[in-house]
Amino acid sequence: TYIQQSQPLGLGHAVLCAAPVIGDESFFVHLVDDLILSQRPCLDQLREHYERHGASVLAVETVPRDQTTNYGIVATEEVASGVKRVTRIVEKPKPEDAPSNLAVVGRYVLTPKIFDKLASTGSGADNEIQLTDAIASLLREEAVDALPFEGRRYDCGNKLGYLEAAVDYGLRDPEIGGSFAAFLAALSTD
Ligand code: G1P
Repeated sequence: TYIQQSQPLGLGHAVLCAAPVIGDESFFVHLVDDLILSQRPCLDQLREHYERHGASVLAVETVPRDQTTNYGIVATEEVASGVKRVTRIVEKPKPEDAPSNLAVVGRYVLTPKIFDKLASTGSGADNEIQLTDAIASLLREEAVDALPFEGRRYDCGNKLGYLEAAVDYGLRDPEIGGSFAAFLAALSTD
């Protein structure tokens, strides 16, 4: 089922709308403005982690410190080899308040307990029901892990990221990649 995010209620509200169709199961959240080019789909990497460790899991990547205001930012501790457990998560902190520069990207596996948390979470940053705030509440009761995934992420929510994605995907396209490369080469010599 496709749930359209309604503004200005926010991502948390959109996820809560899905509760009746999901019921008592763990589920993926996939934010379409994050495009990830990888050998293996990022969601499959998260699925494997979830099945192995039984914990909710968030895809994360390191971002420059001055970009923490664009993301949910996590602090983690290594609880086993390669397993980063989230100890804190904050939505869009200023660089000086950020617990790290490890940012959540738009891929999550969450347990259904998140719905209770969302239902009792009030408006947060940007006056929206923040998924991040509900995750902050969830991690006090259940394990939530962070997974630095394999792949290159394009933030298509900003102009530069969107254009970079179009160029990378365009050049790799088996049908039009060659002509697209020729077009770019001609442009750069104009
Ligand atoms: C949302 C989340 C944020 C996350 C980001 C990933 O923000 O609220 O925690 O880091 O997606 O793209 P948005 O991009 O909707 O501002």
